[in-house]
Amino acid sequence: MSQSPDPVLQVTGLTTDIATPYGVIRAARDVSFHLDRGETLGIVGESGSGKTISVLSILGLLPSRYARITSGTVAFKGEDITNASRRKLRKLRGKELGVVFQDPMTSLNPVVTIGAQLTEAVRAHTRDFSAVEAKERAVDLLEMVGVPDATGRLDQFPHEFSGGMKQRAMIAMAIANRPSVLIADEPTTALDVTIQAQILEVLQVAQRETDSALILITHDLGVIAEMADRVLVMYAGRVVESGRVNEVFHNPKHPYTVGLLSSLPKLDSDDKRLIPISGTPPSGLSVPTGCAFHPRCALSNGRSECSEDIPQLEEVGASRFAACHFTDEVTTWRNAGAGDGHD
Ligand SMILES: Nc1ncnc2c1ncn2[C@@H]1O[C@H](COP(=O)(O)OP(=O)(O)OP(=O)(O)O)[C@@H](O)[C@H]1O
Ligand SMILES: [Mg+2]
Repeated sequence: MSQSPDPVLQVTGLTTDIATPYGVIRAARDVSFHLDRGETLGIVGESGSGKTISVLSILGLLPSRYARITSGTVAFKGEDITNASRRKLRKLRGKELGVVFQDPMTSLNPVVTIGAQLTEAVRAHTRDFSAVEAKERAVDLLEMVGVPDATGRLDQFPHEFSGGMKQRAMIAMAIANRPSVLIADEPTTALDVTIQAQILEVLQVAQRETDSALILITHDLGVIAEMADRVLVMYAGRVVESGRVNEVFHNPKHPYTVGLLSSLPKLDSDDKRLIPISGTPPSGLSVPTGCAFHPRCALSNGRSECSEDIPQLEEVGASRFAACHFTDEVTTWRNAGAGDGHD
């Protein structure tokens, strides 16, 4: 399932637990997906659905005091890196896996100049760069991400950069060594709306210049529709639907995806009401039995399969998967308007 012949990243059955004072939260549950070279994969799902925990697991960035991968594998270019040493993972992150988080300050060091951080990133992996060449590369990188007066800004500290400029610098760091995979977790959420589109454009330029694949996590389905080739929809730690974006968004095969899409204001209509999915996502501590979405699902309508058996991802079309016992009813149900009201 979700295989491709030569993916840059293959995640199989990833399950990650977080220990909390109230009990163990299984934050990622049997998550499987692949990322092809050069493609953009969007990950969507309500808050708490396990998007961040999944990518932190892949990157080896889980806080080891309380979170760990309990089963599953992560393979990068065919090599199992699930239990790689911290050193190896750190090296991979600096070179092959570039990361952009919501808050650039999780990655930028506040007491080191932007220029020093960039040249350090460049030289850490390519010793054959001289100091002068590394500096030139740093300027090139800053120019690529649209930082004006790049040379002049090398000596500035992160706090001298605006939010948008910090995020540009962070993207420059992430692509410094031409990674094969870029992972951006809500890269624009903390920014002014006016700057968000610019940063997404910078991310696309960065991806193009480095030929990297991109995993893009955002709550903005419009951005996913525009930027992603494929999409994963997550709910309560599981992937509930995946496929090519245009197919999934035009003809969703899981009731949760139907709900997510109908909670969007319709761009082509004057009716800008938001229709949220009724109810709230479960807390990680008490996930419903069977299909975790069943208490909120109008299509389930109390059917026992939904509350008793966990639906597995099944192929529902070419390279399309959905985890719903009644996936073959979804289109008819949606066309009847049921997806708009949720009751
Ligand atoms: N540090 C933590 N301590 C306790 N629980 C956590 C921690 N981080 C995540 N969780 C729990 O793990 C589950 C998955 O969280 P995760 O952060 O991956 O969600 P998300 O999909 O990224 O949400 P958001 O859209 O809000 O970023 C949630 O139940 C969350 O409460
Ligand atoms: Mg998150």
